[in-house]
Amino acid sequence: MSGIEFLGTGSYVPEFVADNDKFAEIVDTSDEWIFQRTGIKQRHIATDKPNYYMGAQAAKRALENAKVSAEDVDLIIVSTCTPDFFYPAMSCLIQKLIGAKNAACFDVNSACTGFISCLDIAQKYLATDTYKNVLIVSAEKLSQQVDYTDRASCILFGDAAGAVLLTKSGKRFNSFLGAEGDEFEALYCKINYQTNCPWYGDINEYYENRFDTHAKQNFLMQDGKAVYKFAVNAMADAVRNVAAQGGFSVDELDLVIPHQANLRIIEKATELLGIPSDKVYTNIEHMGNVSSACIPVALNELFGAGKIREGMKICFVGFGAGLTYGAAIMEV
Ligand code: UT7
Repeated sequence: MSGIEFLGTGSYVPEFVADNDKFAEIVDTSDEWIFQRTGIKQRHIATDKPNYYMGAQAAKRALENAKVSAEDVDLIIVSTCTPDFFYPAMSCLIQKLIGAKNAACFDVNSACTGFISCLDIAQKYLATDTYKNVLIVSAEKLSQQVDYTDRASCILFGDAAGAVLLTKSGKRFNSFLGAEGDEFEALYCKINYQTNCPWYGDINEYYENRFDTHAKQNFLMQDGKAVYKFAVNAMADAVRNVAAQGGFSVDELDLVIPHQANLRIIEKATELLGIPSDKVYTNIEHMGNVSSACIPVALNELFGAGKIREGMKICFVGFGAGLTYGAAIMEV
C-alpha cells in the first residue's frame, strides 16, 4: 500500500469552557461522578460560531503549518456528523472560507470514526497521482445535537475541529474500517424534516413504533452501556486487524491516538492489546468527546508539543455511531 505523510496539522478549539461544575448546575450530576466514570473535567462549546467556521479555522492553521497555499489543495474531505446544512457539503463552505478554489470537495459521515475513514479515502486518492495535496477537516459541533437535560449523555460531548494536510510518501500506511449496522440504535440522531408535502401520510407512525419518542426532538440518543461494550472490543479488533494487514506487531507501535469517548474505554481496549499507558495519548480530560475531531485535535497537540518524531509508528483507532469502527497505522 503506498504511503501518506502529514505536511501540516491545525485545530480550532472554541474559547467557552464548560467544566463539570457547570453541568452540576443544569443536571443532577457532580464533578466526581463525571471524572471517575469518564475521565472528563471540561469541554469547549462553540456558543456563537457555526461548525463550518471551526473547520475553516483548523484548515487555515494546517495550511499555514504546512506552508502550502490554499490554491494548491486538490481535494477537501470533511468528516462531520453535525453539519450546519444538509447541503451543500461542509467541505464546500470551508473551501470558500479558505480560498481553496482548485479543490474538489465532499463530506464523509461515519460519525466518530470519520477521521479514520478520511485517512483511508485520502490514501486511495493520493495513490492515483491525480491528487497531490489532500486536506482532511474533521469538524464537530455536538452541542447542537446534545440534549442538555439528559445527564447520561450531555456531560460527554464538546465542540472542536482538527485538520491535516496530506501528500503521498514512501512510508508505510495501512487502514482498516468496519461497521455493525445491526447496532445502529445504540447511538443515533434522527433528522426531523418540517415537510409540507401535501400527499404525506403519517410517516412518524413508522418511526414511533421503532424508536424512543424523544428521537422526534432531533437530539442525540444513546444507549451508553451498549456503546461502551461494543467500543472496547471493536477498538481492540481494529488495531489487531490493521496491524496484521500491514505486517506490524502491536508491540512495535510507538504511539496510539484513540478516539476520546471515555477514558475507561481507552484503558480497557489498550489493556486487551497489551499496550502500556505511556504509549497512549489522551486529551479527554480537557476536551471531552468531540467525535471525529478527537484524533486530529490530539495529533495537532502532539505535533505542537514536539512529541511526534520521524520514523514513529502511530496508530489511530476509533468507533462511533453506525456503529462504525476503524484503525490506521502510519509511519511518520
Ligand atoms: O463517541 C461515542 C459516544 N458515546 C460513548 O462513548 C458512550 C459510551 N458509554 C459511556 O461512556 C458510559 O456508559 C457512560 C459514561 C455514558 C455511563 O457510564 P456508566 O458507568 O456506564 O454508568 P451507567 O449508565 O451504568 O449508570 C450508572 C448510574 C445510573 O444510576 P442508577 O441507575 O445506578 O441509579 C445512572 O442513572 O449513574 C447514573 N448516571 C449519572 N449519575 C450522575 C448516569 N449519568 C450520570 C451523571 N451523573 N452524569
